[in-house]
Amino acid sequence: MNVYLDNAATTPLDPEVFEAMRPFILDDFGNPSSTHAHGRKVRAAIESSRKKIADLLNCTPGEVIFTSGGTEADNAILAGAVRSYQIRHVISSKIEHHAVEHTLALMADRGSIELHYVRLDEKGNPDQDDLEHLLKLYPGALVSLMHANNEIGNLLDLQRTGEICAQYNAYFHSDTVQTMGHYRHDMRKLQVSAMTAAAHKFHGPKGVGFMYLKKDRKISPMVSGGSQERNMRGGTENTYGIVGLAAALEIAYRDMDDHERHIKALKKQMINALIEKIPGVSFNGESGNIEKSLYTVLSVSLPESEENELLLFNLDISGISASGGSACSSGAAAGSHVINALYPGSRRAPLRFSFSKFNTSEEINFAADKLAGLLIKS
Ligand SMILES: Cc1ncc(COP(=O)(O)O)c(C=O)c1O
Repeated sequence: MNVYLDNAATTPLDPEVFEAMRPFILDDFGNPSSTHAHGRKVRAAIESSRKKIADLLNCTPGEVIFTSGGTEADNAILAGAVRSYQIRHVISSKIEHHAVEHTLALMADRGSIELHYVRLDEKGNPDQDDLEHLLKLYPGALVSLMHANNEIGNLLDLQRTGEICAQYNAYFHSDTVQTMGHYRHDMRKLQVSAMTAAAHKFHGPKGVGFMYLKKDRKISPMVSGGSQERNMRGGTENTYGIVGLAAALEIAYRDMDDHERHIKALKKQMINALIEKIPGVSFNGESGNIEKSLYTVLSVSLPESEENELLLFNLDISGISASGGSACSSGAAAGSHVINALYPGSRRAPLRFSFSKFNTSEEINFAADKLAGLLIKS
């Protein structure tokens, strides 16, 4: 059996998404900026994709800007917001994805911003009182806090955080790469200035995503060039990627309730199986709490063992694809800045299982049995 349990790294393309993309891969090859019929056809597909996404998010099409994925969208927003609003102070956390963490660290190293980290509680949740304290000191700051952590699955209360940020006139960016397509975002309700998405996290193609930029929170572009994407991102559009992205999000919204129920049941099954089979097992952050965490992610803390670093390799040999912290494959606790920030000095090995609509109950049993067997041997 071959079992893929690394869906937070990337998900398999949905065949229905592929069918939506197919004409734009094989036949409709025009450049959307061309004014002739070939170009116009593709332009129409891009604009209808933008409209589909805007309708799902309850925002306007002009607020959706296509990018090459989550990393580019995060970079563009952070750099663009600092530049456009002459922001000096940035508030973030030590457990953001590297697309945010490294980008902000680089800006701080260059002296263009001062970086402040919000305090985290013992489970890794940003302390909202500390956020408010920092905002009192630095009103109008850029706040960058992710909606769901890709390693430990903690969920941020976007509504509440947005309200606090609005109170202090902050620019609030949230990396929503792990929740787009898995939760419904209502942009008319949320007071979020900017958000990011990557199609490959919800069964769309790789190398395409988007940033949501609130109408009155526009930024200057990071990629200059042609006037594509309403002058927000130069470069010929990834046409079939954009069509696939919109199709994937539409399918995700259409089937979300069923998939959430299915995936939550798988996660519960994995938690129960691991507790039963592995004495001393625990779960990192909030990920063991079904209601308080991203339902696609389970971060397992295995009892200390000298062989743990080999575990991912042995799981791989046994037909199971999982990961250490994030997409890092070493399996060593030292590889994860999130685990290190949360549990400094811990030698317990983190192991992340992440699930999708395509996983089955049999696969969960198989993976739990194999893992328990490998631990007994080591
Ligand atoms: C939370 C988060 N942000 C950003 C990214 C980067 O997205 P992409 O791979 O599309 O650049 C990822 C992907 O691993 C992610 O999990």
